[in-house]
Amino acid sequence: MSPPPDPIADLRPFEEETRRSFDFERPPSAETGMGADPWSIRRVASGWVGILRGRAALVLLDDELHELARVSVPRSPTGLAVGKNGEILVASELSPMLGRFAVRGHSLEPLGDVRIPGVLGLRDVTVSPAGVVWALDERGGQLLQLALGASDRGSPAVASHPVGHGAVQVIATARHVVVNATLEHTLFVLETDALGVPLAREPLRITHDGPMWGFDARETSTGLVIAAGGVEDHPLDRTSGFFGYIDSFAFVYRVHDAIVEKLASVNVSEHGVVTPKAIAIETADAEHVELLATAYGSATGVTIGVRGAGPRGRAPAIATVALVPGIRALERSASTTVMADPLLDAWVLRSEHGVRVVPVAPGPAEPVRSAASRLGEALFFTSLMAPKNTSTGALSRFTCETCHFEGYVDGRTHHTGREEIHATTKPLVGLVGNRPYFSRALDPDLSTVSHAEFRVAGAGSSTDPFFAVEPRDHAWLEHIGVRERVEPLELRRALMRFLIELSHRPSSSVASRVPRTFDDTEREGAALFRDKCESCHAARLSADDVSTQVPFERWESLVTSDAAPIVWGSAGYEKTGVVPYVHEEGARTPSLRRLYKKYPYFTNGSAKSLDEVLSRLRFTPARTLHGTTPANSTALSVAEKRSLKSFLELL
Ligand code: HEC
Ligand code: HEC
Repeated sequence: MSPPPDPIADLRPFEEETRRSFDFERPPSAETGMGADPWSIRRVASGWVGILRGRAALVLLDDELHELARVSVPRSPTGLAVGKNGEILVASELSPMLGRFAVRGHSLEPLGDVRIPGVLGLRDVTVSPAGVVWALDERGGQLLQLALGASDRGSPAVASHPVGHGAVQVIATARHVVVNATLEHTLFVLETDALGVPLAREPLRITHDGPMWGFDARETSTGLVIAAGGVEDHPLDRTSGFFGYIDSFAFVYRVHDAIVEKLASVNVSEHGVVTPKAIAIETADAEHVELLATAYGSATGVTIGVRGAGPRGRAPAIATVALVPGIRALERSASTTVMADPLLDAWVLRSEHGVRVVPVAPGPAEPVRSAASRLGEALFFTSLMAPKNTSTGALSRFTCETCHFEGYVDGRTHHTGREEIHATTKPLVGLVGNRPYFSRALDPDLSTVSHAEFRVAGAGSSTDPFFAVEPRDHAWLEHIGVRERVEPLELRRALMRFLIELSHRPSSSVASRVPRTFDDTEREGAALFRDKCESCHAARLSADDVSTQVPFERWESLVTSDAAPIVWGSAGYEKTGVVPYVHEEGARTPSLRRLYKKYPYFTNGSAKSLDEVLSRLRFTPARTLHGTTPANSTALSVAEKRSLKSFLELL
């Protein structure tokens, strides 16, 4: 099949029409706009409990995964744990309140929420076998130990341990707490006693070149076994014109006596398993580890058996398992595996009878997503965009999420393949108002992005990126309503539709703020930003459209609204001393919207914190500089840095 003369020209009218009806001040929110988003699932005595991130709900399910009860929880729940006495804990990203519930017959009873001081939200929560509660403050980069029973007598946070950026998952075993900090590419392993008291001052670190997306951990008589899914532990290589060395891997480690021993490293992309997030260690003892790795990006899972290690070890025994894509979390009970699938907006059950997909029942008056948007999500998060890729040598089977975790970033600074130029990954959330694209600003619109990314994704597979999708080749597509052949232009429109709807969630700085106003420091920061930063980081609703500029008087109400829609970027190039320049004219001024989801900063990744960005800023009468310190330039005062930082943290 050959493309029409200019596929991009065919896509542009659709983009223009969509933009005309798009409310840039109140864009649809990915908090609720991406479906129910079942996010995690746990076994309870009478069935299962699960959280719906997109519906701010906890649900009780029977053994067939039909909903028996639903209760509201704080906004954007992302963590679920069941304590020793059956108490259910729910952590939410957009709220400092930890929800507590109990199952009573066929209903869920709220036991009262506990406010965790000093946090804006919690990403995950877990309970150790002895009943110690641990939670993750992703924004603050902290692992927290909580004492919930003592909440009326003092602070529920009894200890905190720094774990860096992108901490999304925590598991506590009898003798360890393990945290996955995706953007640090690190698993932190803290040895503790049964009461959760750390036995060593520093946690052990298992660090890779790129992110791990999920893990499981299990105690054995010879140490802690950890199995993780992540990207190939190798830098990206673009020298052959495609994305090289970004296959998905499963890694197995044993930690004992403060030593980390690697038991296995398996290229699971070779077996059709792409972006594994939900991993379960099925058995683990001194000699043998057996695990199940499911996939977010493909319809295949894999079981891996590891016997011995190092020179004594045999090659892992591998068997594939037919599943569906989109699996984010799983829980096992006897011969049944139950999975949470935000891509299909369904619960998935695997038993001796096969695999069953149970869609989450829609609530009354819920917005219905378009089929195109769901297909676009599938293109983004699965290998459907480049189905013919292989894993031979440097070639890789991957998805957009291999580098854009949950649509944001991977914490890596990639070699671009051009000279010595590197680039940190940029978030793909809120793109509709943030054109032109890439720090070199070479893609003027989403039509260009959508068409070009099919070529980029499939480069190296020597197949035509202008292909159609046949549902008979991907049976799981029926679960998102695709039952007929989809033509190449339609696929590109679907990807665009999804990217347009992939809008930012509310900023956790303002989501639970009452009243929605600035404090004095933030107000000072806003004024400083207007005077020193806004000439480039423009207060626009669409970065390349001056007519969308928002006057200073409206900043406070917009920044404290749920959408917080101001982009804080502009279309032109600037040379700010961040070298080497990605383009001969510098770099496009990036958006600062939801800056806390980006790490590290600058195209060259040279700033690891906002403090570093602010300390490096230099001003001459003619220029503002991010990366050099010319003679006779001035810097920000301590007070200015403080107020600017508090403003930037809101955005
Ligand atoms: C190998 C890692 C990798 C993969 C895989 C990847 N990207 Fe990216 N992406 C990057 C990096 C690095 C950047 C930042 C480059 C720069 O400086 O502009 C980026 C930037 C972008 C941008 C520009 C965003 C902006 O605000 O300017 C878009 C759009 C984009 N990627 C789309 C995609 C899509 C769609 C896919 C899946 C087909 C994908 N990417 C897969 C690494 C990757
Ligand atoms: C002359 C235009 C200009 C001015 C003025 C300016 N910036 Fe920037 N800013 C840029 C450019 C261009 C980049 C990207 C540089 C790079 O990474 O190559 C950038 C990057 C940043 C980043 C990193 C963003 C990311 O995604 O990595 C932050 C944070 C930032 N600026 C904050 C500020 C603040 C705060 C001020 C005011 C004190 C300011 N900037 C003033 C042009 C400017």
